[in-house]
Amino acid sequence: MSAHAPKSWMQIIRWKLVAAVVAAVALWFVSGSLGFPRIFQWMYVSYAVLGLIIFVALDAPSPTPLMGWKAGLGIIVFYLICSAILVTAGTLLPQFDSKIEVAGIARKTVKYRLSDEQTASLMQRTKELSAKADELAAKLNQLQAAGAHLEVGSVEASAPAKPASAPAANLSGMDPVERGKLVFQDHECYNCHQIGGKKSKKRGPILENIGNLATEAQLKDKVFHPKAWHAKGFEKQAEGKDKMPEKFAEVMSEEELHALVTFLLTLKNTAADTPQPVFPPGYSVK
Ligand code: HEC
Repeated sequence: MSAHAPKSWMQIIRWKLVAAVVAAVALWFVSGSLGFPRIFQWMYVSYAVLGLIIFVALDAPSPTPLMGWKAGLGIIVFYLICSAILVTAGTLLPQFDSKIEVAGIARKTVKYRLSDEQTASLMQRTKELSAKADELAAKLNQLQAAGAHLEVGSVEASAPAKPASAPAANLSGMDPVERGKLVFQDHECYNCHQIGGKKSKKRGPILENIGNLATEAQLKDKVFHPKAWHAKGFEKQAEGKDKMPEKFAEVMSEEELHALVTFLLTLKNTAADTPQPVFPPGYSVK
């Protein structure tokens, strides 16, 4: 900066403006391609503008000093301008909202919580089982007392009959469809599959109408052997890095699978965009 010839505003602004425009355009496109929401793109652009203002201010010719009441007024006006900028920016730009974060965390932890009803039914089940264990222990004692000469046939005859109405698939006594929804949560199918709505915004197909398109056996096969068949139009995804994981056969119990598929079979919204299953030639469920 030369002391003799103060720069004109044009000179001060020119290159900074060019740099700011380049930065703003780059920020807009880079943040856009990284999937930032529109409001964030504007926020980044506003940073470029802010940078421009700061660098122009640094280089600006010094104002003539204000004295007396004018100095006081100057401070007040400056304060008002800064406050106005802060308040405007604060209302326009996205803010951290603790409610949104808390709701997100609650959604993630929901699978670890049981409803009062579930807890009660689990307690009930525990009581029943421990009563049964006591009963069996008592039987064993009797048998031992009766001695080794007892015939095998009579042991069987005296064994307690299996209760006729105790579906193994119903551990917690829950409604199977409700249980299936939980399994869908527990195994994070929702990461790739949307339920609810008509079109999917996820990596995998929307499952809203799968109950009309596949049978129970086919669905079970798909979950445990994702390569067995695929969704029409998802040929690429069936191969790529977003393909359906093959771990479920190892990490999911038969009980869970049964409940999950019972739930999937209830999804019968014909208005939804669920793709048709495509079976390989000669396909049959193993
Ligand atoms: C990592 C992503 C991912 C996860 C997790 C995932 N899937 Fe998939 N799924 C896909 C993709 C991609 C397709 C489409 C390609 C294909 O059929 O293999 C698909 C296809 C399907 C289909 C066939 C849909 C149709 O319309 O034909 C069903 C049914 C299905 N998944 C159920 C499930 C269930 C149930 C779970 C949870 C246990 C699950 N998926 C977890 C990615 C996933």
